[in-house]
Formats: sequence, C-alpha cells, structure tokens
Amino acid sequence: MRIDILCIFPEMFASPFDQSIIKRAKERGIIQIVAHDIRDYAHDKHRTVDDYPYGGGPGMILKPEPIFEAVEAAKQQLGVSEVPVILLTPQGRLFTQQVARELALQPYLILICGHYEGVDERVREYLVTDEISIGDYVLSGGELAAMVIVDAVVRLIPGVLGSSISSTSDSCSEALLEYPQYTRPQIYRDWGVPPVLLSGNHGEIARWQRCQAILRTAERRPDLLNKATLRDEERKWISESLLSPR
Ligand code: 6GU
Repeated sequence: MRIDILCIFPEMFASPFDQSIIKRAKERGIIQIVAHDIRDYAHDKHRTVDDYPYGGGPGMILKPEPIFEAVEAAKQQLGVSEVPVILLTPQGRLFTQQVARELALQPYLILICGHYEGVDERVREYLVTDEISIGDYVLSGGELAAMVIVDAVVRLIPGVLGSSISSTSDSCSEALLEYPQYTRPQIYRDWGVPPVLLSGNHGEIARWQRCQAILRTAERRPDLLNKATLRDEERKWISESLLSPR
C-alpha cells in the first residue's frame, strides 16, 4: 500500500512514522508513506497556500490551485487515476475501526490535511472523494489526524503485525471493550491477580474474560452493547444483573 499525504508541515511525519510497527512495515516494503509539501505547488515566490475568505469572516482559507496540482502530481506519480482522495476535516464522517478496515483494502490513498479556517469549497466539490474526521474536537491541522488514520490502517494490512498478534481480536472489531489483563508478578504491593486466571481452567478463564468484557462495556460504553454480537443468555444476564437496580 502507498499513502501520499499532502500538507503544509511534512516534517511532522518524520518521527511518528519512523518508530515501531510503521517503521517495520516500511522497512519490509509492505507500505510506503510519502509526505508532500503543498507549498511546492504554490504559484508565487512566497509559496502562498492560503488567502482571505470571499465574503469576509475570520481566518484564512487554503487556496485551490496548490492542492489540485499536488493531488494531480501524486496521481501521476502513482500512475493511476482512480485513487481515494480524502480530506481530513472536523466536518468529515467519523473515523471508526470500520472505516479503518475499509481504507486498509485500498492499494493507494491520498490524504489532504486541512488547515486554518478551512479549504476552498471547490476542493471538496471537484477533487475530494471522501472527508474524514477523527472525532468531535478541533485540531489545529489535519496532520495529527493523518497520523492517527495511517496508524490505524497500516496495522490492519496483512503481514504488518507479527503472527502472534492479530488485529482481528481488537476491542472495537467486536464492539466489546477488552477484559482486564495481568502479567507477572503474581502479587504486586499486596495486589493479587484474579485467582481464576491462575486456575489453569481454560473454559473458566474464557467465561471470566467474556463476563469482564461485557461488564466493562456496560459500565463505560453502554452505547457499544447494542452493536455487540451477544448470545441470548448474555443479553438476559445484562438486563438482569446490570441494567436493573438491585
Ligand atoms: Cl481530520 N482535522 C482537524 N483539523 N480537526 C479535527 C479532525 C481533523 N478530526 C477531528 N478534529
């Protein structure tokens, strides 16, 4: 997979993409990430990429020409015309694990990082194929959002995670939060590990983990329970033991 990121701060991507899992995926040739500076496509010697909004109003707007030309240059480099061109903006559809899985199927992605008060609407209308937001808060630019998306997408590509870890059992994939986990020491500052985990009874352990995952989801994210695939007796247990006052 190749991901081209168009932005005004390409240096921001150097360190985050040069660590850990993404670094390894790059080294192994599974992914290629290229950050481009939109300013390279500006039309004047000051490398201007923004201007005042027509009709007045606060802040600056990213001009259309450098963005259109940067996307066209990236497509030409890729040698393909049909590439998802995704604008990162708080106005986009919400990024979820489902969206990450969808993007992970693509061979190429072009991400455009929005900035300032916004982007000229013609970029949205005539260039972009999708708009994504990573949550209901405002970042000063799309670069951090691009990093979040790249990380979530790359780890879903087959071969990126080691064979012992699988991305398919991640919490959001199944819409339940994860159960509590422990490692050594067995007793730390008087705090022990739940005895069931030391029992060696794998059926018992699996049941405990499942109950804990449901409990935790009900407490912290009741909204997720509706989407979760639960057995009838689990739904019954939830409505009896959790949602009705004891
Ligand atoms: Cl994609 N961009 C910006 N600037 N702020 C955001 C965002 C994106 N997603 C949530 N907040």
